[in-house]
Amino acid sequence: MARFTLPRDLYHGKGSLEALKSFTGKKAMICVGGGSMKRFGFLDRAADYLKEAGMEVEVFEGIEPDPSVETVMKGAEAMARFEPDWIIAMGGGSPIDAAKAMWIKYEYPDITFEEMCKVFGIPALRKKARFCAISSTSGTATEVTAFSIITDYQKGIKYPIADFEITPDVAIVDPDLAETMPQKLVAHTGMDAITHAVEAYVSTANCDYTDPLALHAIKMIQHDLVDSYNGDMAKRASMHNAQCLAGMAFSNALLGIVHSMAHKTGAAFDDHGAHIIHGAANAMYLPKVIAYNAKDETAKKRYGDIADFMGLGGETLEEKVTLLITYLRKMNDDLNIPHCIKHYGADSYPCEQGFVPEDVFLERLPEIAANALLDACTGSNPRQPSQEDMEKLLKCCYYDTEVDF
Ligand SMILES: NC(=O)c1ccc[n+]([C@@H]2O[C@H](COP(=O)([O-])OP(=O)(O)OC[C@H]3O[C@@H](n4cnc5c(N)ncnc54)[C@H](O)[C@@H]3O)[C@@H](O)[C@H]2O)c1
Ligand SMILES: [Zn+2]
Repeated sequence: MARFTLPRDLYHGKGSLEALKSFTGKKAMICVGGGSMKRFGFLDRAADYLKEAGMEVEVFEGIEPDPSVETVMKGAEAMARFEPDWIIAMGGGSPIDAAKAMWIKYEYPDITFEEMCKVFGIPALRKKARFCAISSTSGTATEVTAFSIITDYQKGIKYPIADFEITPDVAIVDPDLAETMPQKLVAHTGMDAITHAVEAYVSTANCDYTDPLALHAIKMIQHDLVDSYNGDMAKRASMHNAQCLAGMAFSNALLGIVHSMAHKTGAAFDDHGAHIIHGAANAMYLPKVIAYNAKDETAKKRYGDIADFMGLGGETLEEKVTLLITYLRKMNDDLNIPHCIKHYGADSYPCEQGFVPEDVFLERLPEIAANALLDACTGSNPRQPSQEDMEKLLKCCYYDTEVDF
């Protein structure tokens, strides 16, 4: 038996934030990040709509990017004091993910972080509060997914919490919120979204319910991302929908090793000056993983479907896979994202000598590869890599060399 779960309601389109006016309840706690929602006036608007609906409102602010276990515990304490019956999480993936984890701890005060991380092991929620997610970035789709990513900074590792219990009750996908994104955030979150859709389409857990969502998302991102990056606000609005469709697909079909590698390289070189931003890591690794996975016949056929759906041409499956890889690499060029870790500079701009020195990369490679193999996303990848494969693949991602194994 397979399960397909999405939010009960999804409001979309310009001005859909106003849906908050129709909520029924007594107390709403709004959870936000570092300030962008306040600065651009969305926090006040949301609070006003909820007050108009007759609710008492409290704000929990200051959730940091890549939120920590400590922040989750602090937010849950604030919820325990205020006792909301609605949690309204607004902003990028970080504040929404943190609020999902706070929600679990609010409903079950005795639960530990380790218990929360048991895959599909969360007890029934909604005894105290329902959850609405309002996204301001166009990539993670956490407003519709069963996932929350929390970082344990003591261990330096990102932990995914995965359970359909944390799929929000309501998602609001209002493109007004995405208009203020800086250009680089558009690029990173957009490449994250296309990676979600491609990985979901070839995942071993794909199904008839997830395939159309993934394919349509890919086509929309093909047409809209680069223009959105260059300031076209109609395309920006379309990207906000596309990333959400990709999220509906991967929340139910899971992901693959592009994400395993991105999760385990992201913070691995922080001591060398910079973080490999999630979406940029995906953008660099996706073409390499396609070449690797295409050695599996089923995956090759599925990449061929994607290339056909995008109208890329090609006669044989091999040609279609090559055209897909070429297309994705061109997107990286258009978005100023490098092709490999070696050329990954500050803010993900390409440069001759990136911030990860070759000797440091090679020294850490065996451990990073081992961690990537253990990542929750590896299980649904169409080809199961060995330690040797994973090390070779990561080397191709460092040097931008061809994958021929
Ligand atoms: N839950 C999931 O399914 C899922 C999927 C993929 C990634 N993630 C996680 O999500 C997090 C990344 O989320 P993200 O990429 O949305 O970024 P983010 O939430 O970390 O935000 C990044 C920065 O952008 C700013 N920002 C957000 N929206 C803005 C706007 N509209 N205008 C101007 N500035 C804005 C924020 O203030 C912040 O400084 C990571 O922790 C990642 O691991 C979660
Ligand atoms: Zn992602």
